[in-house]
Amino acid sequence: MHSRRSFLAAAAAGSTLAGSRPFAPLMSAARTKSYSHAELEAKVKRRDFSGLTKRDLPTPNLVLDKDVFDKNLKTMAKHCKQNDFDLRSHVKVHRSPEIGMLQIKSGALGLCCATISECEVMMDAGAPGILWTCQPVGPNKFSRIVALTKKDPTFMFVVEDPMIVDQLEELAAAEKVTFNVVVDIDVGIGRQGVMPGEEGLELSQRVMKAKNLKLTGLMGYSGAASHAKGWKHRWDVSNHEVDKLMESVHLCRKAGIPVGIVTGGSTGSYNIDSQRKDGLTELQAGSYALMDSNYSRIGSKDGDETYDDFGLALTVLTTVISKHYPKKVAVDAGNKSMTQPTDMVKGRPELRVQRAGAEYGRIEWDETDREPKLGDQLEIVMSNLDMSVNCFDRMFVCKGDQVVDVYSVLGRSGPSQR
Ligand SMILES: Cc1ncc(COP(=O)(O)O)c(C=O)c1O
Repeated sequence: MHSRRSFLAAAAAGSTLAGSRPFAPLMSAARTKSYSHAELEAKVKRRDFSGLTKRDLPTPNLVLDKDVFDKNLKTMAKHCKQNDFDLRSHVKVHRSPEIGMLQIKSGALGLCCATISECEVMMDAGAPGILWTCQPVGPNKFSRIVALTKKDPTFMFVVEDPMIVDQLEELAAAEKVTFNVVVDIDVGIGRQGVMPGEEGLELSQRVMKAKNLKLTGLMGYSGAASHAKGWKHRWDVSNHEVDKLMESVHLCRKAGIPVGIVTGGSTGSYNIDSQRKDGLTELQAGSYALMDSNYSRIGSKDGDETYDDFGLALTVLTTVISKHYPKKVAVDAGNKSMTQPTDMVKGRPELRVQRAGAEYGRIEWDETDREPKLGDQLEIVMSNLDMSVNCFDRMFVCKGDQVVDVYSVLGRSGPSQR
């Protein structure tokens, strides 16, 4: 451990070298050049990533393991192709136009978005086939779906209330547009959607009667199936919930209503939903691209303990900023990074993550042969991507320790973005 005096001396020595990094003894011996914060930002602005490593990055920050990420995209695309199953990747976990476009490039026919600002950002980036998986309510959202539909007439969104269907019909007539709508069925999540069976049929019939609305299909998202622990259990939950969606699909088809897409599913159920002949036509999985620690515990087809079909690609890079007590250190990723006690430290199963304050996190351990030292960097695998990613404006894309790119995180709900 560094004593405070030796630490300050080291800092002072390091700061006298032009362009070099303070706290030099905390860097690896092989390292000769480091960048100041201003130099780093200037390089990022120029998109010149040469020589930049994780050591140069401000913390806390998001870092993406490019190799793991690329493999995740490939694995999902290959699975969907082999099983003749369409993929409309959900962007809610990353909110990054660069990642959205890479998902399209790797084979997704479109993107699902949780918020209207995500739809706007992804459409601006050039993504086709956008489905907003939330019903538009109120004048602000109404004006924005009009703009999106005028920009890309294939834009779709869900509906789940007869009153909104009537309002949308009026709006579409006034704006001289046709809205593509997907009827949302509540297959068990209890937060959105009409009841399966007759209610789904009735809403679909109402849409069919509206001159300026086009029924594109039906949606049923099963939140329960996504994280059901154990593959066999997940198989049962997912099939049970897809059955509920299919009740409405069958009733519609019997009534002569053409149902185009049947959309739903998740990262947890991808290889269950793809196996049904009479079920979803497309998958809305999102987390597969980056993965989180909650998903890593749900078990896979090959074993009930870990889920490693997709690798953990995204982490919060953090620095040990205080070390005064045995068996614990303070790091600079806390509540503002939405770290949680269920997070994990990458490659360090013996370390536990605790929250200690807005800007402070705490890393604890019982036994370790590698005590984290002041100045060390650690990478935290988040429990919930949506929440942690939403705290940042960008992610640094890395190959090993080398920074190779920066992807933006846009479409956040806060005023800084929209
Ligand atoms: C409507 C909808 N579809 C799909 C997904 C994607 O799920 P996952 O990230 O678990 O793949 C979600 C996630 O919350 C969702 O809300």
